[in-house]
Amino acid sequence: MISRVQRRLFHTTAERLKKTPAEQRWLARQLSDPYVKSARQQNYRCRSAFKLLEIDEKHGILQPGFSVIDCGAAPGAWSQVAVHRVNATGSDPEAPVGFVVGVDLLHIPPLDGALFLPHSDLLQPAVQARIQESLPAGEAHVILNDMAPNASGIRELDQQRLAELCLCVLGLARMVLGPGGTLLCKFWDGVHSRLIQNRLTELFREVKTLKPRASRKESSEIYFLAKRYRKS
Ligand SMILES: C[S@@+](CC[C@H](N)C(=O)[O-])C[C@H]1O[C@@H](n2cnc3c(N)ncnc32)[C@H](O)[C@@H]1O
Repeated sequence: MISRVQRRLFHTTAERLKKTPAEQRWLARQLSDPYVKSARQQNYRCRSAFKLLEIDEKHGILQPGFSVIDCGAAPGAWSQVAVHRVNATGSDPEAPVGFVVGVDLLHIPPLDGALFLPHSDLLQPAVQARIQESLPAGEAHVILNDMAPNASGIRELDQQRLAELCLCVLGLARMVLGPGGTLLCKFWDGVHSRLIQNRLTELFREVKTLKPRASRKESSEIYFLAKRYRKS
């Protein structure tokens, strides 16, 4: 529900900035979204932080001392959560110190405790090699994948691009994920989701489909949580 104050703010802002109808709808959604507000209050770079927080709270995937790869890291909210949960800055002197490396096509503002590879395409083998080189002992405990291709508006094409990104992450898992490791992988429910799920089931002992509360109901976005990697 949008409050009177929010509605007034929305109309004034939309008018002043001469927004298109689509931009106005986006602005209205942002202003009425409790996760956007909480992200601002808790200094998260975007609302997606709450998806990972919820998944981690329920399924305990991030632990102090873990090495984590964040695929599609910009603007860096998942990395913020990961840095904190794995103790990558060493802020808890009693706990083991973890490591976070994030990669994205876009710029990622620096974050204490994370190594970022901005302007990097994960589909490129050279980028995957740089990730592997950066990892302590060359292995990761957890791979997070929140990558999304730029929407073309053609549903089939976008699904196919997202499937390519997921398959690329599975290739990365084969390279760097340690035995028993975890992969959290965003997907859009649709024609290719069964294919991705089957591939995950071949590689991991446990695969669950999740829809965190912070994931918008109207979005087809789901997350596959694959645990206990069967490293051969
Ligand atoms: C939904 S955003 C990720 C948000 C991030 N999890 C956070 O919490 O800040 C998806 C990101 O995937 C990135 N991406 C898409 N294709 C990619 C690729 N081939 N290589 C690296 N990043 C990619 C996009 O640039 C975009 O920043």
